[in-house]
Amino acid sequence: MLDELKREAIARLWKRKLDQDIQKLPKSERHRNLEPASAEFICALATGCRARRLAEIGGSSGISTIALAEAARQSGGRLTSIEIEPTRQSEARESIAALGLAEWVEFVLGDAGDVIPKCSELDFVLIDCEKDDYIRFFDLLNLAPGAVIVADNILSHDLFDYVAHVRRRSDVESITLPIGKGLEVTRVPNY
Ligand SMILES: C[S@@+](CC[C@H](N)C(=O)[O-])C[C@H]1O[C@@H](n2cnc3c(N)ncnc32)[C@H](O)[C@@H]1O
Repeated sequence: MLDELKREAIARLWKRKLDQDIQKLPKSERHRNLEPASAEFICALATGCRARRLAEIGGSSGISTIALAEAARQSGGRLTSIEIEPTRQSEARESIAALGLAEWVEFVLGDAGDVIPKCSELDFVLIDCEKDDYIRFFDLLNLAPGAVIVADNILSHDLFDYVAHVRRRSDVESITLPIGKGLEVTRVPNY
């Protein structure tokens, strides 16, 4: 569960995103963030799974970073937050420090295509980057038994190729949840 301080930080980031959308700023200047309801959900899910090795692909200015850092704090784990754009990542870093969550987050600046193969035995992964990369990054993941992978924007961007791809593996369980912009929640088996 997120406490009020973390919810307020998320609400501030979300309000700015909505204001930027109304102003119709160019895509490069706009912050794209996970919806607050999805942030609540991934925090609860990762905490409930007692995930210790967490990663997010596309941390941006940090709504999901706050949610998963809180889950990492509660499970005594660590979040690797991967972001390719430096300004957004420094903002996330500042928010995480201000919320007292810095010791549970490792920020990595770079292309997830290079970073993800170096992350081993992941228990929980959020995929929230360019939609064309979802399948490639899913296939690069080194997952621990029982790992959970959540991908955002499934319904908003009709990411049915991704859904079909993860479900093609006969050993995974996967469901699309109508939370926020649509989350695909995929669990690999325990063996
Ligand atoms: C939708 S935003 C992420 C929102 C974030 N999860 C949040 O809750 O605030 C997508 C982010 O993915 C980043 N990104 C795109 N391609 C990437 C890549 N190959 N490696 C790392 N980050 C990437 C973008 O710079 C952008 O900030």
